Amino acid sequence: MMNNNPNKLDPQQLVAEFKDIPPMPNVMVKALSVIKNPSTGIAELAKIMQVDQAIATKALSLVNSAFYGFRQQITSINKALVVLGMMKAKNIIMSLALKQMMTAQGSRELWEHSIKCAVAAELLAKEYKVINPDDAFVIGFLHDIGKMLLNVKNPLKYSKVRYLASQGNIDLVEVEDAQFGTNHCVLGALVSKKWQLPVILTNCIRYHHDPVHSSLPSVCGIVYCADRLVQNNMPTPLLDPKVMSKIDFTINDPVALRETILAKATIFLKEMAGP
Ligand SMILES: [Fe+2]
Ligand SMILES: [Fe+2]
Repeated sequence: MMNNNPNKLDPQQLVAEFKDIPPMPNVMVKALSVIKNPSTGIAELAKIMQVDQAIATKALSLVNSAFYGFRQQITSINKALVVLGMMKAKNIIMSLALKQMMTAQGSRELWEHSIKCAVAAELLAKEYKVINPDDAFVIGFLHDIGKMLLNVKNPLKYSKVRYLASQGNIDLVEVEDAQFGTNHCVLGALVSKKWQLPVILTNCIRYHHDPVHSSLPSVCGIVYCADRLVQNNMPTPLLDPKVMSKIDFTINDPVALRETILAKATIFLKEMAGP
């Protein structure tokens, strides 16, 4: 494909320019390694949560919230893990483990948007059965992780980019390309590779603004739709018919779906709030 942007970094320049990709937070590394071994997993995950009191407290309040709607009051982390299952518990750990990094290196807004997208992607995956809902949560949560790298590289320039994109009809990815020679999708895929996350995740991060060019358009379409459904500044969510015609599911009432998603996400965010 022709490279129309003379500023566009080639892969080598890209790696050289953005070599300081932050490592995955330790607590997330531990949680991911634990779930590979289901026989000892629950007890080990409980230990991880108990070491980090903030995670334990917030996980318990989330489990007892209307987000899950369990009938009985759950008072111990062990019990919470049994009712949640390991994948959901791991996702809660991830949401909190990355909060500090995403807020410090990106913005509070980035973390909140990521949570909203995670909740949306999980719900869409449940509804349309394109991918496992717990995996969809992870993809939704990490889709914009590349924004951290642009912000760290040049915070002033990046706030200008975001301002320009919020002002009119200019696409954020295009403004990023013009100003930085790359964009948050390409950089997000770099982070995903460095963190050795599954290939499917790297692919969805890379193509979440352009699912048609992914090798998995429908899976990628889940995060594409999630991203658009959580944006509340339009009367109707912007779902491009050209994209929607290439994916395996149809959203009949995006306005109602957006309401359901945002209501759920608000509960999740409220329980995860605080420092
Ligand atoms: Fe994005
Ligand atoms: Fe996004």
